[in-house]
Amino acid sequence: MTNSAVPSLFQLSFFLFTLQVMIVSRISAATRFYQFKVQTKTLTRLCQTKEIVTVNGKFPGPTISAQEDDRIVVEVINMTPYNTTIHWHGIKQKLSCWYDGPSYITQCPIQSGQSFTYNFTVAQQKGTFLWHAHFSWLRATVYGPLIVYPKSSVPYPFKKPFNEHTILLGEYWLKNVVELEQNVLESGGPPPPADAFTINGQPGPNYNCSSNDVYKIKIMPRKTYLLRLINAGINMETFFTIANHKLTIVEVDGEYTKPFATERVMLVPGQTMNVLVTADQAVGRYYIAMGPYESAKNVKFQNISATANFQYIGALPNSVTVPAKLPMFNDNIAVKTVMDGLRSLNAVDVPRNVDAHLFITIGINVNKCNSENPNNKCQGPRKGRLAASMNNISFVEPKVSILEAYYKQLEGYFTLDFPTTPEKTYDFVNGAPNDIANDTQAANGTRAIVFEYGSRIQIIFQNTGTLTTENHPIHLHGHSFYVIGYGTGNYDQQTAQFNLEDPPYLNTIGVPVGGWAAIRFVANNPGLWLLHCHFDIHQTWGMSTMFIVKNGKKVQESLPHPPTDLPKC
Ligand code: C2O
Ligand code: CU
Repeated sequence: MTNSAVPSLFQLSFFLFTLQVMIVSRISAATRFYQFKVQTKTLTRLCQTKEIVTVNGKFPGPTISAQEDDRIVVEVINMTPYNTTIHWHGIKQKLSCWYDGPSYITQCPIQSGQSFTYNFTVAQQKGTFLWHAHFSWLRATVYGPLIVYPKSSVPYPFKKPFNEHTILLGEYWLKNVVELEQNVLESGGPPPPADAFTINGQPGPNYNCSSNDVYKIKIMPRKTYLLRLINAGINMETFFTIANHKLTIVEVDGEYTKPFATERVMLVPGQTMNVLVTADQAVGRYYIAMGPYESAKNVKFQNISATANFQYIGALPNSVTVPAKLPMFNDNIAVKTVMDGLRSLNAVDVPRNVDAHLFITIGINVNKCNSENPNNKCQGPRKGRLAASMNNISFVEPKVSILEAYYKQLEGYFTLDFPTTPEKTYDFVNGAPNDIANDTQAANGTRAIVFEYGSRIQIIFQNTGTLTTENHPIHLHGHSFYVIGYGTGNYDQQTAQFNLEDPPYLNTIGVPVGGWAAIRFVANNPGLWLLHCHFDIHQTWGMSTMFIVKNGKKVQESLPHPPTDLPKC
């Protein structure tokens, strides 16, 4: 019979093969659905009961977990009186800029009573990330882990740990953080320090009436654990240590690093770090501690450390108890030591040639007081108003979605003239001008810089400041970048040393206090991406700018249409 209505053996086997491919690819790239109800909850910490904003009533928030290449779909329902958005920090959002999350940048905030469904893949990404609210200072309580596991057949580049724990470092305020942000901004003065640091939401016994609010990990003697450290802090960088135990860094910002053993690490807000810890000490109780790294001068900060317990199974009441020792709050050397130890696991593909060189100064400004009410509105140094800027432009948050405005070619919401060379920089090393109130005046603006698709970019971030300088955690959305160099003082092309072999590949870089850092990356993700200091107070004051990456020639190099359910402003 030659009738083609009967499938040939070939056709049948092809059909079966296709079916199999469909099933296998379904298994190897799954879709993970989550529902995030953003809702208030009453919480008691430090003897005070207050309402905090949470996801699903949890503090810290729930963990999202997935495997490399999976799709993640999160329906966010805003049941609070505030605006909100969620940002998936460290996830590249390749071709899905619409779902990146920063409010007024890639979307209007999700208003009270509204919802929005985020939908993106974690293509070619694995490791420890975090999600957090990206509106006002809501991320003080609206944050949680986003963990992407390697595919089932792919091992870690180190011996499989016995078990793993996620450790979220946070800052806790007794005040309502949205009001706090508004009040600080109005006052023109500095923010108050957090009321406590927290480890997985618990401050530990060092604060007022918090002796029972202690996070504990129970560990088996002689076993090795993977700790996924996430700094979800707001305005502080923090040290982290475990008494008598070495931490071996194996991954930073979701990229493997050469194993580097250290007694303590420093994490900037937004940074994630995987460390291995082996329970190789006498059976007992060891303290975990988190405390301030404050590189600025004359700044009030929380100086009491949060502690947690690292407790061996089998410890008896009379077993050893060992307190943890943190570095001094201003130990810049401890910070540099860890930074020097961060190397990509393998040789990496750093762009050798550069299409666009940028020099971006980052600093705090004191703007002139133009208010009739200086006692209330100008509480900054010398009766001025504190601000922050990049290339002396203080970012003004728009009231629309800039990505939408860009996509629809609407004019008047932002300009494309972010200065690529600084309008004004100070040689802080050789002394700053005295007339601070005038000379540090920043210009306001909502400006962006445009890159061609695929262009290779180098940026030098230069710390400047006439008041003081400090380590700023600069975070880029939509891309990771190689940190090819850094140093103290002014960047000098003649003497700067670059590592083009195995630099770390990060999404947040703590630019050294009074120093500089150099990064390189390829702008291969079309859309509009926020670049900002991950201290919320500095972002509030304007230390942000935007990068626009144009579409490439092909469809797979172009930003798709916006989702139909994008929130309206
Ligand atoms: Cu983790 Cu724009 O932020
Ligand atoms: Cu900053």
